[in-house]
Amino acid sequence: MAQNVMGNSQLLLLGLSLLVLLVYSQTRPGWERFQRFKNQHVRYPKHLASNNDQYCMMEMKWVNDYNNACKGFNSFLHNQTQNIINVCFHPNIFCRNNETNCHRSIFRNSITECRSAGGQYPDCYYNGTAVRKYFVVACIPISPSGRLLPVHLDSTFWNPGQVFLLPPP
Ligand SMILES: *[C@@H]1O[C@H](CO)[C@@H](O)[C@H](O)[C@H]1NC(C)=O
Ligand SMILES: *[C@@H]1O[C@H](CO)[C@@H](O)[C@H](O)[C@H]1NC(C)=O
Ligand SMILES: *[C@@H]1O[C@H](CO)[C@@H](O)[C@H](O)[C@H]1NC(C)=O
Repeated sequence: MAQNVMGNSQLLLLGLSLLVLLVYSQTRPGWERFQRFKNQHVRYPKHLASNNDQYCMMEMKWVNDYNNACKGFNSFLHNQTQNIINVCFHPNIFCRNNETNCHRSIFRNSITECRSAGGQYPDCYYNGTAVRKYFVVACIPISPSGRLLPVHLDSTFWNPGQVFLLPPP
């Protein structure tokens, strides 16, 4: 009888572990979106290349492998990941899709913009331009800590007045 009780509590423990695992695996998508954001938009330091076209050709490979297609336009932010994460703690502003979980940098960041110049996946050609612009990221709280992390680069802009601030509450 005692063994039976033991067996039941072990079963309960197993059940609880599975539940924790299930909850954990369901929180992974947020973490994966952050990883994907980094792979698509964060490069620090900027690797050497003979010019920005070559740079884009090299770095867009990792971006294009997500969709097996030549992405038309992509920006790489050259800064430490932590400095980009910190932008999530700036006040909320509207995103281009009218959601309100966007945040803008208060500094101009070194960015390489890559624009498609044709080709067929996996041989994609690009024109690259180095700029210093402000940027806007969308952030979501990632479980289990609930820490805000960037998951989407919403826009980049030259003029600090170009974004839509939220009306005061
Ligand atoms: C965002 O809101 C503005 C003003 O309410 C509206 O004109 C615009 O169509 C909306 N954009 C999207 C993508 O929903
Ligand atoms: C990186 O971010 C910091 C702010 O966190 C900013 O002052 C600095 O200019 C940025 N560096 C580059 C290379 O954009
Ligand atoms: C754009 O990239 C293509 C392919 O790398 C290159 O041949 C062309 O010279 C570039 N054009 C400009 C304007 O830089």
